[in-house]
Amino acid sequence: MSREIRVAIAGVGNSASSLVQGIEYYRQQKKTIGLAQPKIGPYAVPDIHIVAAFDIDKRKVGKDLSEAIFQEPNNTRKFVQPRSLGVEVQMAQPLDGVSPIAGEKILVSDSKPSNTAKTLTESKAGVLVNLTPTGASRASQMYAQAALQSKTAFINATPARIASNGAWQSKYRKKKIPLVGDDVMDQIGSTILHRNVLELLVDRGVRIGETYQLDIGGGTESELSLDKKRYEIKRNIKTSAVAAAVPYQFPIVAGSSDFVDFMENRRTSYFNIKGEYFGGTEFFLDMRMSLEDGPACAAIVTDVIRMTRLAWDQGQTGPLIAVSAYGFKAPPKRIPDQTLKQELATLAKGTKHS
Ligand SMILES: NC(=O)c1ccc[n+]([C@@H]2O[C@H](COP(=O)([O-])OP(=O)(O)OC[C@H]3O[C@@H](n4cnc5c(N)ncnc54)[C@H](O)[C@@H]3O)[C@@H](O)[C@H]2O)c1
Repeated sequence: MSREIRVAIAGVGNSASSLVQGIEYYRQQKKTIGLAQPKIGPYAVPDIHIVAAFDIDKRKVGKDLSEAIFQEPNNTRKFVQPRSLGVEVQMAQPLDGVSPIAGEKILVSDSKPSNTAKTLTESKAGVLVNLTPTGASRASQMYAQAALQSKTAFINATPARIASNGAWQSKYRKKKIPLVGDDVMDQIGSTILHRNVLELLVDRGVRIGETYQLDIGGGTESELSLDKKRYEIKRNIKTSAVAAAVPYQFPIVAGSSDFVDFMENRRTSYFNIKGEYFGGTEFFLDMRMSLEDGPACAAIVTDVIRMTRLAWDQGQTGPLIAVSAYGFKAPPKRIPDQTLKQELATLAKGTKHS
């Protein structure tokens, strides 16, 4: 069986740029620094081949993907120049992909939208990764439907409720196609760090009193956070993902963001935790973390693409519970870390490949 994993992407923004660059970077470098999972079963990052891409911005549509990823408003770090990929970005149906508040950044192309399901079938994509903006719920559902129609596994990197929605889970179960999501949990990001620090404190007997987390960034996603209504879904997902680390209720705010354009795709997160330890003694913790958004998302996307393909090789279809719990903030089901590690190790060992 071929080791090539044929992938389509919907949304050629900052995360897609880092994903496309990352595949090329690890192909050229032959080093695995920066990867949590150099190999998953038989699959390495360069086994991922992008075979189709969709966007709506006239600066990206019609261009080879290797050039489209560097067009404005994308502003994430360029760490490699990919070869020409022979993949022309297809015009998609815009639907709700453009936010009324932050949407002036997107220049919608007047090209005719392509037929998504047909493009997926013709490109022989095995996996579709949805990287459309936060709040593009109808567009995300359109891609989920097209993936079903063309028998393509669906990875929802966005906060739209797809993998965590019972109706979509049944549809994918019935068609025997893998479904994974929702909302990527970055390789290193505010959710994973906040969660793990809280878990450590709870394990050490600290009673958490209150905590908040504030994010400031300069990518289009951070600008979208100014659209309070549209961004609410993301804020709720982040808050639930962090709150799940503590076995009781307490005041928490996570995912409040602001936009500073000159920060480009960098993001700074501030964390504040208050609590009580031995003898009722007060405890205060302030932390600050700065990173680049695109690569933090792309790293996990390279893992979940390979895990999804491996699970499918082994006959797993419908919502992939362990893969979703590993890579996403709002999975169909949360799994304790120890159990999750065992399940992922079993997945990696169970490969039918040599
Ligand atoms: N660290 C991260 O970057 C991170 C982490 C977790 C989740 N995510 C999620 O990943 C998604 C992508 O994030 P990003 O920073 O790359 O966003 P981005 O704004 O840089 O890119 C989104 C792209 O989607 C395109 N688009 C809009 N409507 C479309 C449609 N109907 N069809 C196809 N393309 C369309 C836009 O033109 C743009 O190129 C978001 O939903 C975000 O919440 C990102």
